[in-house]
Amino acid sequence: MAVSDERLCSYDWIQDAENVGSVKRQLAHLFEVSLRTTVPSEPDIAPLVEPCAAKSGVKFGDYQCNNAMGIWSKIKGKQAEFKGPPSVGQAIMKNLPPSDIIESCSVAGPGFVNVVLSRNWIAQSLQRMLIDGIETWAPRLPLKRAVVDFSSPNIAKEMHVGHLRSTIIGDTLARMLEFSHVDVLRRNHVGDWGTQFGMLIEFLFEKFPNPEDVNEAAIGDLQTFYKASKVRFDSDPEFKQRAQQAVVRLQGGETRYRDAWKQICEISRTEFHRVYERLGVHLEEKGESFYNPHIPGVLEELNKKGMIEDSEGARVIFLKDVNIPLIVVKSDGGYNYASTDLTALWYRINEEKAEWIIYVTDVGQQQHFDMVFKAAKRAGWLPADDNSYPKATHVGFGLVLGEDGKRFRTRNTEVVRLVDLLDEAKNRSKTALLERDTAKEWPEEEVEKTSEAVGYGAVKYADLKNNRLTNYTFNFDQMLNDKGNTAVYLLYAHARICSIIRKSGKDIEEVKKNAKIALDHEDERALGLHLLQFSEVVEEACTNLLPNVLCEYLYNLSEIFTKKFYSNCQVVGSPEEGSRLLLCEATAIVMRKCFYLLGIVPVYKI
Ligand code: ARG
Repeated sequence: MAVSDERLCSYDWIQDAENVGSVKRQLAHLFEVSLRTTVPSEPDIAPLVEPCAAKSGVKFGDYQCNNAMGIWSKIKGKQAEFKGPPSVGQAIMKNLPPSDIIESCSVAGPGFVNVVLSRNWIAQSLQRMLIDGIETWAPRLPLKRAVVDFSSPNIAKEMHVGHLRSTIIGDTLARMLEFSHVDVLRRNHVGDWGTQFGMLIEFLFEKFPNPEDVNEAAIGDLQTFYKASKVRFDSDPEFKQRAQQAVVRLQGGETRYRDAWKQICEISRTEFHRVYERLGVHLEEKGESFYNPHIPGVLEELNKKGMIEDSEGARVIFLKDVNIPLIVVKSDGGYNYASTDLTALWYRINEEKAEWIIYVTDVGQQQHFDMVFKAAKRAGWLPADDNSYPKATHVGFGLVLGEDGKRFRTRNTEVVRLVDLLDEAKNRSKTALLERDTAKEWPEEEVEKTSEAVGYGAVKYADLKNNRLTNYTFNFDQMLNDKGNTAVYLLYAHARICSIIRKSGKDIEEVKKNAKIALDHEDERALGLHLLQFSEVVEEACTNLLPNVLCEYLYNLSEIFTKKFYSNCQVVGSPEEGSRLLLCEATAIVMRKCFYLLGIVPVYKI
């Protein structure tokens, strides 16, 4: 079904979509119908529906509608039948249309309408997902295309842990949006342009007079090469002058200079690729240089709109509530990070027709993006209101810290080589795996695959489980612990569920056809309800760009399965075996989808 804008304003679309939407949305739809009858004079009130939180361990329902108080303060005295919020709540409850979703309702305190969902309906929804696939639980977001700008390291400079965070967080956001039917342009905005290239190219010419001799092996480490060229640049004025001319010749498009630039970029790219390969991350490079030809036109447009002014020889844009101007042409006439980002934003909105442009960088760049977005609003590229599309969002994240509480470094080296870091995670998980008796008999390939899944998964999950804005401490022992909230624990929990199904000796496809899910035990019901909430959790994680919301859901799922369901409900050999095997299967499917969205490869055996 085509996505239309009306979806944003009304819940009506749910009825005719193939996918009926999350529990929360379906309830919101019922309450919306009720609100229209309850307060006909206020047709714009949106339903406020939330899962119930437990108060001192007791829950009055599964979901609640919180509209009564707000409505009372709006219509006080205007509708005689209402004497206060509780009577509004009673009316909201009475006016709910009949539905097989709801088992019972009650009004509590100052008018909260509590809903207990029907067991039967939960069971049927799970059964349907097992047949039609988890894709039917994918949320539908009110947009068609998004750009996720992430990873984005700089050529010939260090790819550091900040870029690792950006890569991990950005990939997850892209996966979650893609799952939610959004067409995602995964952009690697690499820093492949700038004055440092003059220096690098001149140094390259000096070291390798014959361009054919240039390759990764000969150059070695590009960072070291960069440092050596910088030393040369700072100590020899004649070299410095040549380097400055080289920038001009590169920008003028001279073949020899462009070829050298390409060679340098290519070597960096190979290095970046080693990290992406390990992480299973796919990106499409459109580096800073790509936008270069478009900069003059974009600045001209802004100039015509009267936005650009002279300031101390530079060309700048002054913005409301920001005390520094956004420099768009430096005093030497060159462009900078901001001119490129303004142009890239223009390109993404107007040429690529993206409706949501998401930038994943450390929080240190927040002001830069804030200024670029403000300029785009002033230019009329983006609406003034942050809630309408197209919109641009900066997804900031905190620092990675070492055990000492300072910026993360490895041993004595100044920089952390990301490839080494990932390899260490894998090797440690391999050692731990080989200590288990079962794995000792595994073929080498299986050991390799499992230790990669666990090792890289651990690094990703340790990053994603925190609210991205907080700093987090990098600690191999913690992230590779098989207890607690870690990827290792979760992956093993999944493998254990798979082994329950295997040990039953039943063909799960046959069970799906012949058995019916029943949720008679409280812990079966709790598990079933949590499974059903997957859709709204993904929607929330997407809307607020918070992967930790999905991690928390996954961890709770595994806890509910292990500590409630599996501890209290015998599966294999019980009279309820068929139904319970289906619950195991549904849990495994939802866990795998969570892993997939978090970029983690599942394991089936331990
Ligand atoms: N290359 C930048 C850095 O390493 C990140 C680029 C982020 N994306 C952007 N469109 N500015 O800090």
